Amino acid sequence: MILKAKNIRKSYPTSIGSLEVLKGLDLSITKGEMISVTGPSGCGKSTLLNILGTLDRADSGSLEIEDQLVAELDDEHLSRLRSESIGFVFQFHHLLPEFSVLENLIIPQRLLRRAEVDSRERALELLEKVGLSERADHRPGAISGGERQRVAVLRALVNRPSVVLADEPTGNLDVDAASKLMEMISSLAGDFGQAFLIVTHNPVVAAICLRNLKMEDGQLISSPEK
Ligand SMILES: Nc1ncnc2c1ncn2[C@@H]1O[C@H](COP(=O)(O)OP(=O)(O)OP(=O)(O)O)[C@@H](O)[C@H]1O
Ligand SMILES: [Mg+2]
Repeated sequence: MILKAKNIRKSYPTSIGSLEVLKGLDLSITKGEMISVTGPSGCGKSTLLNILGTLDRADSGSLEIEDQLVAELDDEHLSRLRSESIGFVFQFHHLLPEFSVLENLIIPQRLLRRAEVDSRERALELLEKVGLSERADHRPGAISGGERQRVAVLRALVNRPSVVLADEPTGNLDVDAASKLMEMISSLAGDFGQAFLIVTHNPVVAAICLRNLKMEDGQLISSPEK
């Protein structure tokens, strides 16, 4: 098991009390799984990804990533786990605008103190794999929206994490660009054995994922569509 979340609860304080968003949610992810998560706006999908990605903490419950209990890790070990084991993809790419595509793929590897030549080689290998080698020296502002999202996925994969958490990665793409992104994700997931948890409103994305989950009343349930 790559990730195991048990009885996760999260509330936010509001002016009229507290808003319970996650209400005892359970989720287990195994190696190489592709999972989609759907649910109405405001139901808690991003809240969940932030907690699973250790960017935020649950109020209660337990989270294990690669057999390590997240609550027991100090800040240093937690950030190491985050760099090594988890990749993030956001709705808007969050690439660094002042750096080239290649540099955007090299920078995250510095956190792992990987040799610069190896980092460069790894970045070029990924770009080659998805047919973006010719864009290596472009800045993010000088490639298309679909290409930017594909680079954002590569960035999430560059440190070979065991799980990639993606929050509406196709949110601002048209149908063609979204399909292309999903094809790339599923071929990379097959090659490298990473698991993907993808929050999406896009039926194309859900169709490609073998496991479909729906967020309902602060819990995840199997979606009956397939
Ligand atoms: N930092 C915060 N403080 C207070 N309330 C918050 C905070 N973050 C989110 N919320 C509230 O918690 C609920 C869940 O938010 P979340 O962002 O997880 O929803 P979502 O399912 O990702 O929605 P969307 O599909 O619109 O992105 C919402 O009602 C939101 O207003
Ligand atoms: Mg969200």
